[in-house]
Amino acid sequence: MSTSRILVTGGASGIGAAIARHWSNLGHDVTITDVNDFDGKTLATELGCAYFRLDVRDETEWRRFAVANDAFDVVFLNAGVATGDLVFGAPDTSPFSSFDLAAYRRTLGVNVDGVVFGIAHLAPAMVARGSGDILVTASMASIYPIPADPIYGLSKHAVSGFVKSLAPALHERGVCLSAICPFFVDTPLVPKEQQAQIRETGFEVLTVDRVVEAAQLAIAEPTPGAHWVVFPGQPTTRLPEPTLG
Ligand SMILES: NC(=O)c1ccc[n+]([C@@H]2O[C@H](COP(=O)([O-])OP(=O)(O)OC[C@H]3O[C@@H](n4cnc5c(N)ncnc54)[C@H](O)[C@@H]3O)[C@@H](O)[C@H]2O)c1
Repeated sequence: MSTSRILVTGGASGIGAAIARHWSNLGHDVTITDVNDFDGKTLATELGCAYFRLDVRDETEWRRFAVANDAFDVVFLNAGVATGDLVFGAPDTSPFSSFDLAAYRRTLGVNVDGVVFGIAHLAPAMVARGSGDILVTASMASIYPIPADPIYGLSKHAVSGFVKSLAPALHERGVCLSAICPFFVDTPLVPKEQQAQIRETGFEVLTVDRVVEAAQLAIAEPTPGAHWVVFPGQPTTRLPEPTLG
């Protein structure tokens, strides 16, 4: 097995940490980036891999990072945040009671800019080499409405449209861009009380291992623009493409 150079953004916690751990355990050369330096460095030390602080919202940081690093074989653009009731007030109890511009910008900054800037700065070296995979952690909220967090839904739909729209041009140049779309996952992004509420509605909350399996599948079966849906109790499936015309 040849060693791949792998980047995981938001790799200090949750899904990103599980992805970093999995590919590192397989013997690959993994680089973790995050803004949570403590957890990022701790995990990197444990795995024997590299850690860099990289705020994915910051285009200048991406530029510097790309200059300082050789081309990656696989890039997981995974960093993300939820917004909850921060932007419009609590959807159930006090909708439209407030508007928090900073929370809005933060969500779009991490979830949308973090993907666009990452591709803008890392794809050129992959395209120059004519190979590589970029897998974006999108969400079920890329496909279905998420009334509890409309700004999160906005950001994940945006990412989905971006992946589908850009994938063909990257594919022509040897790079596969695709997305995974998990249902709720047991990570710090979903507070335990919310996880309990989800279970009360009859749904299971996914383990990070299920998402890692989906990521493995997406890399093993590179399909430009694909959206791999990860839903509890069902095998990971690729979303059918809409038929145009
Ligand atoms: N947990 C879920 O239910 C779920 C479901 C579907 C999709 N996702 C997506 O999975 C991805 C990973 O989330 P998770 O569930 O592992 O959450 P998490 O909170 O455990 O991990 C997210 C990581 O992103 C990092 N991050 C936040 N802002 C950043 C920034 N500006 N720059 C760099 N890193 C930053 C955090 O420090 C954290 O380490 C996100 O894109 C999220 O939207 C999560």
